[in-house]
Amino acid sequence: MLRTLLKRHSYEVETASSGEEALAMVDSFGPDVVLTDVRMPKMGGLDLLATLRAKQNDATVIVMSAYGNMDMAIEAMKAGAYDYVQKPFKPDEVVLALKKAEERESLKRENRALREEISKEHKFENILAKSTQMQDIFRTIAKIADYKTTVLVTGESGVGKELVARALHLRNARKGGPFIAVNCGAIPENLLESELFGHKRGAFTDATQDRRGLFEEATGGTLFLDEIGELPLALQVKLLRVLEDESIRRLGDARDIKVDVRIVAATHRDLLNETKAGRFREDLYYRLNVLPIHVPALRERRDDIPLLIDHFIQRNNGRLGTSTRGLDTEARRLLYEYSWPGNVRELENTIERAMVLCESDQIIASDLPERIREARDPVQLQLSSGELSVKKTSRVIEEILIRRALQKTKGNRTRAAELLEISHRALLYKIKDYHLSEL
Ligand SMILES: Nc1ncnc2c1ncn2[C@@H]1O[C@H](COP(=O)(O)OP(=O)(O)OP(=O)(O)O)[C@@H](O)[C@H]1O
Ligand SMILES: [Mg+2]
Repeated sequence: MLRTLLKRHSYEVETASSGEEALAMVDSFGPDVVLTDVRMPKMGGLDLLATLRAKQNDATVIVMSAYGNMDMAIEAMKAGAYDYVQKPFKPDEVVLALKKAEERESLKRENRALREEISKEHKFENILAKSTQMQDIFRTIAKIADYKTTVLVTGESGVGKELVARALHLRNARKGGPFIAVNCGAIPENLLESELFGHKRGAFTDATQDRRGLFEEATGGTLFLDEIGELPLALQVKLLRVLEDESIRRLGDARDIKVDVRIVAATHRDLLNETKAGRFREDLYYRLNVLPIHVPALRERRDDIPLLIDHFIQRNNGRLGTSTRGLDTEARRLLYEYSWPGNVRELENTIERAMVLCESDQIIASDLPERIREARDPVQLQLSSGELSVKKTSRVIEEILIRRALQKTKGNRTRAAELLEISHRALLYKIKDYHLSEL
């Protein structure tokens, strides 16, 4: 009877005479809605529902039950059924329930599409971010990935500079080629040169064989020069030559070898400052800085924090076998407001530690390290105090900024005034006003 009725309303219908038979056809038929009786021989409606859910099938289930069997219908709703119709029913009632279910179906579909859209938007290769600053970086990477032009990635430690370098490589048409990373700060100066450029047999005592350097290894791909700020001055000269000639010379060799590599360099230092201090060659700096990408500190893009937290929790659940669901509001707030001097790496480690220490499936404030519980950002602290006076709040924040500027410039007031973008005179006045003269 239902089949005839529903066909008349243009539904595509399959019928089954038992729960088992229904389950057997679910995969091939793929119903959007399952209309089932509660009481049936062997597998009842509730078991059918449970089995569907266990199979990750999220078809909308509507149960039919006879008057006097209402508590069964309620059970079914609790177990995730969408609706119920009471028997005996008028044709309209069933059609109405199906129309409602259809609405839910299309909402569900829209939701799913939206969720996929969002996760696509917030993920770029292995970089997860939704802040506008990082979205700009995603766009820049996509735009410049295909060129061979040298890229300089800057930013504090742990912000994801290496991930940016890898994304540049993965988005490059040359991605079939190798990605070779070398940490210029971790290799002793006397080995670094032969590491980078290779050597000829006999070039030095231990050189018993010809050896290719990393530039040659990276041919056709990307050479990632990490911590370029640590490169000794003597090698800076050689690197500049390589970048200009696109060829290298192995140690102890007389001939040049053409190399075809994309150079991505990274540093947590302010290279312009390093050039001023004479620790980094200016000509190399300009040669490297053709396409700069600055990855902002995590505290400058707090929008990314919740996304990263959820990502690390999920990843660790898989890796550590934990079953953490999330954080309570207080813990979430602490993580959101903390200043993260170690950036994403510090967040990553903090989450892992909390998941291991955590005694329930929810991370709470006491699972977090003391520095995070105590050291709340004073600016945030002031802003969350409930104080609404612009005057009072500005004074507190102004004092904090002046302290920071003086700390950063080691007490140099002229430089501090520049950073603060106020006049030297105004700074002297404020130092007196806030009693900061000892700084
Ligand atoms: N946006 C992000 N999404 C996912 N993981 C991230 C993100 N940013 C950083 N990470 C993770 O944080 C850690 C640090 O990132 P990475 O090594 O790229 O930082 P870095 O800037 O090179 O740091 P350092 O200057 O200390 O070398 C890595 O484990 C990386 O996977
Ligand atoms: Mg790094």
